[in-house]
Amino acid sequence: MNGKFVDWKDAKVHVLSHALHYGSGVFEGIRCYNTERGSFIFRLKEHVDRLFWSAKLYRIEIPYTAEEIKEAIKETIRVNGLKACYIRPIVFYGYYNLGVHPGDCPVECVIAVWEWGTYLGEEALERGIRCTISPWRRLNPTAVPVTAKAVGHYVNSMLAVMDARSKGFDEALMLDENGYVSEGSGENLFIVRDGVIYTPGLESSILPGITRDSVIKIARDLGFEVVEKPLTVGEVLTADEAFFTGTAAEVTPIREIDFRIIGDGKIGPVTKAIQSKFFDIVNARDEKYMHWLEPVYE
Ligand SMILES: Cc1ncc(COP(=O)(O)O)c(C=O)c1O
Repeated sequence: MNGKFVDWKDAKVHVLSHALHYGSGVFEGIRCYNTERGSFIFRLKEHVDRLFWSAKLYRIEIPYTAEEIKEAIKETIRVNGLKACYIRPIVFYGYYNLGVHPGDCPVECVIAVWEWGTYLGEEALERGIRCTISPWRRLNPTAVPVTAKAVGHYVNSMLAVMDARSKGFDEALMLDENGYVSEGSGENLFIVRDGVIYTPGLESSILPGITRDSVIKIARDLGFEVVEKPLTVGEVLTADEAFFTGTAAEVTPIREIDFRIIGDGKIGPVTKAIQSKFFDIVNARDEKYMHWLEPVYE
């Protein structure tokens, strides 16, 4: 916290912190994998870069360099002695005054790490999940910079996932303001149709996911054609395969959307190929992608 190691139980902020009232913060979600070759953080550079441009969009000046943040992340894992973990850096306006303009509120910078297994459950990775189309549209990019991973944006995701869970589904699929499919509450969407892979582009109000970027590269390396374009609900419901990507969700197949079975209701061959390549890569079993892995314990 702000440059010092603080015990979990003492990692507290003031109740009048600006970010608590107005959502004025930016954050990241990153994973560190325990592999046979040691502990590695997946695409650390890209996550820290996104943290900086999220901060830039919200005019938050991070009082450290990207190098310092990367080093602090690795050191936080080391002092906790963790082999695999989830990493949550967050930068936000703290306590000084409560005008909407953050004024002289201090910029607080925290890095937390903890052990966190599969986000949607081990079974989800094999069997796939059930989704519903959310009544809540994805944030409008003319109202907020949706490409920033900003704290306040997540009320939109929270409403969507709460609606989905209350109806018995695992996850929500949000539409953009024009009614095209955007993304999940914390994942990007891909579909497969006639062997071609499609994913909504930036014009569909998505968060530019780092797993999404990785999967596009992996799929092209595997010889698949990947097309970024606006997707209609009809195209998604009649896809041969659909899957979500995200740091938390990794590569999770979607087997059903609003009681309609996707493909044959099982993980499809294209999803399987990409998922298995993804897990080979994050587990340091693919030499070609070792540049995506940052060693924690040298
Ligand atoms: C709304 C949203 N979309 C997509 C993603 C996937 O992004 P990434 O692959 O960088 O984790 C996330 C998770 O960070 C998210 O919260």
